[in-house]
Amino acid sequence: MKEYLDKKAGVYNLTDRKKYVVVPALKRHIKKVKSGILLDLACGNGLFYKLIVQKGYKYFGLDISPVLLEQAQNNFPKGNYCLGDATKFAKLYKKQKFDVILSNLLLPAFNKKQDIIKVFRECQKVLKPNGEILLVIAHPIFDMYMYKGMLGRKDVKTQYKGYFNSGEKFTFTKKFPKGRFNFTDYHWTLTDYFDAIKQAGLVVAKLDECPPEKILQKNNLKLYKKYYQYPGYIVLVCKNCLK
Ligand SMILES: C[S@@+](CC[C@H](N)C(=O)[O-])C[C@H]1O[C@@H](n2cnc3c(N)ncnc32)[C@H](O)[C@@H]1O
Repeated sequence: MKEYLDKKAGVYNLTDRKKYVVVPALKRHIKKVKSGILLDLACGNGLFYKLIVQKGYKYFGLDISPVLLEQAQNNFPKGNYCLGDATKFAKLYKKQKFDVILSNLLLPAFNKKQDIIKVFRECQKVLKPNGEILLVIAHPIFDMYMYKGMLGRKDVKTQYKGYFNSGEKFTFTKKFPKGRFNFTDYHWTLTDYFDAIKQAGLVVAKLDECPPEKILQKNNLKLYKKYYQYPGYIVLVCKNCLK
């Protein structure tokens, strides 16, 4: 994933589903504050910078891809950026604690469940006691892996063996205005995510399956109907249960 993003980072952009489904969900779950500090874990090119700053937070972004981080820095120079690996990043923020940690579409990049647990444990180290972790994942029941298996999607390559085949690799190709974008991810079941959350000492406080906003029905009925068919994304709002 990293190598591909480094090479092709320029074509990665906001998809319609992200725009009309994920962004409204983030608007619902990131509370407006007078002042706060948010870490965008695996921030990519800083797609959510403006939304986060508008909600009143100081923006910190961390990513493993230097190319994407450079783009984020160029796009939003007032952010604070850090190159690092989400499985061992807490040491990079010795004195900094966060009110919110957002992780959008990072977790399926890991091919070991243990790495997902490591990410959560690192998050705990830098989260304020009443802080929240917002995890956004492609809904595993309807993710790209399942599209291939159940919905016959053509742009996914996988040895589909079934929903319960945890850690199964899949690659997919998507056309963006600036070119084609391929990447590899790993399928994890909802149970895997919940187990990892529990093993790291976190609890799920809220679950949102991200229905399309009603306003889309008025503005773009075709897209609304499409996104109303099945949930593409899930937001899990997690809290620390150790403190
Ligand atoms: C699908 S992109 C999502 C980017 C951004 N969160 C967004 O929604 O636009 C996944 C991101 O995870 C980053 N990534 C993958 N593995 C990582 C790791 N171990 N540590 C930190 N970032 C990682 C990639 O470089 C990429 O920016």
